[in-house]
Amino acid sequence: MGEVGDYTTINISCPNAFGGEPFTDSVKLESLLKKIFEIQKKKPIFLKLSPDLNEAETDSILEVCKKYPVDGFVCSNSTKKRVNIIDKDLPEKGGISGKPMEELANRQISHIYRKTGGKYVIVGCGGVFSAEDAYKKIRLGASLVQLVSGVIYEGPQFIGEINRGLVRLLRKDGFGNISQAVGVDNR
Ligand SMILES: Cc1cc2nc3c(=O)[nH]c(=O)nc-3n(C[C@H](O)[C@H](O)[C@H](O)COP(=O)(O)O)c2cc1C
Repeated sequence: MGEVGDYTTINISCPNAFGGEPFTDSVKLESLLKKIFEIQKKKPIFLKLSPDLNEAETDSILEVCKKYPVDGFVCSNSTKKRVNIIDKDLPEKGGISGKPMEELANRQISHIYRKTGGKYVIVGCGGVFSAEDAYKKIRLGASLVQLVSGVIYEGPQFIGEINRGLVRLLRKDGFGNISQAVGVDNR
């Protein structure tokens, strides 16, 4: 919680950690948050979730978070599910990023946005390879968008291309700014 960065993310969803993801358990998450919020918060705190959580598991995390000044959720980390995979030689272990997990992340954005009525900042992450992909997450409820695989494949100029594309898409739909588009498909 030092001076670096604009926000802090607590990653409770690393798909490669030894011992699994203990903090998706609400009792353990509660002990973690209790300790964390004993330190005075200087910047927003987000929780990074696994896209493999079902709705009931997500809801129990939301229930615990209600009691603490959590600002939002990063939806999401990579998936352990082997869905939408074309490469048959893929290793059995490890998280999958990019297009195969886009839909899982988008479903989680929708669920949290609907369930909490837009109370939290949602950082949409997973499978963003175009302005349209980013815009979809915004319309579902994300007010920030992150991309990792997209930048690896397309390079750093890709961010500027997406931002210009977003301006075009917002104008096309008659929005004056991004805030107006956040969550429109889930209101
Ligand atoms: C090579 C690689 C390393 C990653 N390492 C981390 C990590 O250390 N912590 C984390 O929270 N997420 C990590 N991720 C997950 C990404 O932050 C992101 O949640 C996921 O890749 C989905 O976004 P994308 O489809 O744009 O890649 C990693 C992803 C990749 C591809």
